[in-house]
Amino acid sequence: MDDSGIKKQNWDVKETELFLEILKELDMKKCLDGRKVRNNKLFKVAHRRMTAAGYHRSVDQLKFRWKLLKSAYYKCKREPDSPAPTKIQGWWRYEKTMIAIMESRHPLVGAGVNSDRNDEATEDSDGDASMLHWPQPQPQPCSDNTTQNLDLIIKMDPEMDSQLKIGFIGAGNMAFGIAKGILSGNVLPVNVKVSAPSSRNLGRFQELGIAVTHSNVEVVCGSDVVFVAVKPHLVPLVLNEISQHITDRHIIVSVAAGVTLATVEELLPENTVAIRLMPNLPCMVQEGALLFARGTHAKQEDGALLRSLLHRCGLVEEGPEAWIDIHTGLSGSGVAFVYLFAEALAEGAVKMGMPSALAHSIASQTVLGAGRLLRDSGKHPAQLRSEVCTPGGTTIYGLHTLEQGGVRAATMSAVESATERARELGRKSAAGGRK
Ligand SMILES: NC(=O)c1ccc[n+]([C@@H]2O[C@H](COP(=O)([O-])OP(=O)(O)OC[C@H]3O[C@@H](n4cnc5c(N)ncnc54)[C@H](OP(=O)(O)O)[C@@H]3O)[C@@H](O)[C@H]2O)c1
Repeated sequence: MDDSGIKKQNWDVKETELFLEILKELDMKKCLDGRKVRNNKLFKVAHRRMTAAGYHRSVDQLKFRWKLLKSAYYKCKREPDSPAPTKIQGWWRYEKTMIAIMESRHPLVGAGVNSDRNDEATEDSDGDASMLHWPQPQPQPCSDNTTQNLDLIIKMDPEMDSQLKIGFIGAGNMAFGIAKGILSGNVLPVNVKVSAPSSRNLGRFQELGIAVTHSNVEVVCGSDVVFVAVKPHLVPLVLNEISQHITDRHIIVSVAAGVTLATVEELLPENTVAIRLMPNLPCMVQEGALLFARGTHAKQEDGALLRSLLHRCGLVEEGPEAWIDIHTGLSGSGVAFVYLFAEALAEGAVKMGMPSALAHSIASQTVLGAGRLLRDSGKHPAQLRSEVCTPGGTTIYGLHTLEQGGVRAATMSAVESATERARELGRKSAAGGRK
């Protein structure tokens, strides 16, 4: 018989084991247990490898086999003590690998038992018994459990942003800027909620279709990713309030200037996934510069998820926490330094006789254009500056005046003192949190 086409009609042990081993390996950063199998790419790679090994299945056949295996897994999980027939012949051989795949990434596996109802409905059962003993679901402290069955996996697959529930505690400018950026990505307004004690800032969120509340706990209980966007001195108060409602499904993202990860982690339950994010105001126009640092329990995929959520807010970078205060000086406060410079440019033009409104609009366009050219050309600012300087021309005369005024040194000192101030605020908030 010709063995070069489809090697076998029915899956046998060797083929299934190989398939599972491939999935196990590929699944390191992927999601094999979303509500829908979305990782076409993963199955395509698996398909290539299976083909190379002589097993010629289509991608759809591989996906279907995976569905059956997953369904068998869930059946065994639901009925640990009774025979759990499945469509998978010799299921007991694959149990171990399936558990390795499903549980290495499933702290919420107990809550996820019902998450694959689609698979269950499409498959009959007729297989071997399993004697697996499954962990019971952990009690969840939140009373609002509308989203508790969201798999942890959703946190891990950037493609699944749209299913994530996002919460904001604090409805100020920063929360609004980030929310706008997030909504211009994959997240739907119905999946976002914001809280603040008064209603004065809530209207603009409602205009975006975002639900609002005065309860921080409600935000936490209905969200997977929670942005803490209150003034730094209020962070300990807010974290104390929400702490008992944090579970391992949450990613807590603090944007408060100067509040360290150590402070945040100390105020939240052990093992909380915390991330410190330093955005800046241009997030509001999706031209922000954002730097984040992961806390002790935040994994790379948590960072990847945040990056994916925020990618429409502007430039998003990750770094060590020591850089966050510097970023505050450079970019959080740096925005104001640029405004001051823009204002001074315009006032110089007014002094020389140009109408104020026109001068300000040209100044802002000049800052915008210079910034875009700097970013998009990838050139060093000194190079761009020298390209504008004709020998003996106007620009070099102006630059000389700026250097005489100490603009360079003053700007460097401004970043330095803003950084120092962020560090000082951090020490104060750490002391406040310990009180
Ligand atoms: N703005 C920036 O450029 C920037 C840049 C980087 C980082 N940050 C950080 O972002 C955070 C927020 O700054 P912001 O400029 O957005 O401040 P903001 O405009 O003053 O907004 C603060 C928000 O917090 C709310 N709030 C006060 N107490 C609260 C409580 N107990 N529970 C829940 N919400 C409460 C306020 O409610 P009401 O609406 O009722 O007043 C307000 O909506 C700060 O920690 C800041 O360091 C800001």
